[in-house]
Amino acid sequence: MSNVFYRNVNKNYLEVDHGEGIYLYDKEGNKYIDACSGAAVSNLGHAHLRIIDAMVQQAKSVAFSHLSRWTSTPIQELADLIASLAPGSLSKLYLVSGGSEATESALKMARQYYMERDGKTGKYRIISRWKSFHGNTIGSLSMTGDKRRGKYTPLLLNFPHIAPAYCYRCPFGKSQDTCNVDCALDLERTLKMEGADHVAAFIAESVGGAACGAIVPHKDYFKIIREICDHYDILFIADEVMAGFGRTGSMFSIEDWGVVPDMICAAKGMSAGYSPLGAVIAKEEIYNTFKQGSGVFVHGHTYGGNPLSAAVALAVVKTLVEDKIVENSRIVGEYLLTQLKEKLLPFSYVGDVRGKGLMLGVEIVKDKVTKEPFPVKMGMAEKLTSTLIKHGVIVYPGNGNADGENGDQFLLAPPLIITKNQADELIEGMVAGFIEFDKNIGSMK
Ligand SMILES: Cc1ncc(COP(=O)(O)O)c(C=O)c1O
Repeated sequence: MSNVFYRNVNKNYLEVDHGEGIYLYDKEGNKYIDACSGAAVSNLGHAHLRIIDAMVQQAKSVAFSHLSRWTSTPIQELADLIASLAPGSLSKLYLVSGGSEATESALKMARQYYMERDGKTGKYRIISRWKSFHGNTIGSLSMTGDKRRGKYTPLLLNFPHIAPAYCYRCPFGKSQDTCNVDCALDLERTLKMEGADHVAAFIAESVGGAACGAIVPHKDYFKIIREICDHYDILFIADEVMAGFGRTGSMFSIEDWGVVPDMICAAKGMSAGYSPLGAVIAKEEIYNTFKQGSGVFVHGHTYGGNPLSAAVALAVVKTLVEDKIVENSRIVGEYLLTQLKEKLLPFSYVGDVRGKGLMLGVEIVKDKVTKEPFPVKMGMAEKLTSTLIKHGVIVYPGNGNADGENGDQFLLAPPLIITKNQADELIEGMVAGFIEFDKNIGSMK
């Protein structure tokens, strides 16, 4: 009997032995394509020698120094490199250790920004969207809009949520032809109802991830959002914890909408799973407001900005640029999406195949015409995932996307280094798994 307190204490977990490139191996020697990079994390694949070298060098020099007293060369170089890559004046890097810490920090930074700027203590609420995921700490979970909130509702902050940009299940009953981007206009409606004087920011994932399986907003969505945020004097926070650093085929995903946010939250792909790291990349104007105000952001986490994680991220981001990994994500992503649509949509239970770059999603449904989901108790996303594992492919399942309770989808987010031949191998494994699932679906309860 193990003494590990697993997330699901009744589930059998695969035991990892080692990884190499896009593959993971278990203790029995079975090989799997890590087709979700863990949780869209291992963007450079496993055992990448350049990153390991950088880790070893930094660990030999100094692994930890606390940000309350010390700066270090790796954090300075990382900040300079990211400033040169980020859009607009987003150039100030506030370092933490993961995605939830990043969104939690952005929440507090937005609130303190208005206090520093003009003493507005009432501007503290954050508007977010249903079908979103921003993390599991109390602040980030308060912004999150999916079923992960359920058990903790009494602990959460009273933050408003607006409609998701979920074209397959448009909350306004529109189609592509009749779309008026009402999901973006919902922000204005909510601001008028709640009062912009009480709102500090709007936060959204550029491409929706864990809660909904790679939903991509309308091409005008973020332009409208930006205009509304400016008009009502609230900050726009792009949560790129999953989508950032090349995952969707651009260094920063929001760039594809031609919009500059006030802050970007990053984590996951920034250090590609080699060492925990997260960040808020803030606009110069926000930084200057703090500098001219109290000068102190009243916040911090012990491991944030440790030199080891920063050296890893520096090597990761350099590799993304020098090895043209972001371009590969876009090219192989387009290929994979086309292939998956062609090969998976014919299955009676596949409702939608979508995504951007190498952040792809597959939604499964009971009825393709009505889009009726399977009842959640059938656990279809998990069952399909187990079938795919038998065919050597690991994906990232989720549920609740259809109506908050039911709905099954999975994310496909292989390491960004995947080649076209490996994409073919991935498709082959998936199709074999889907055929097996199709045969058994009638007997599933
Ligand atoms: C968009 C987004 N924000 C925040 C988080 C939370 O990140 P972490 O799990 O590193 O705390 C995640 C994790 O999946 C995410 O996808």
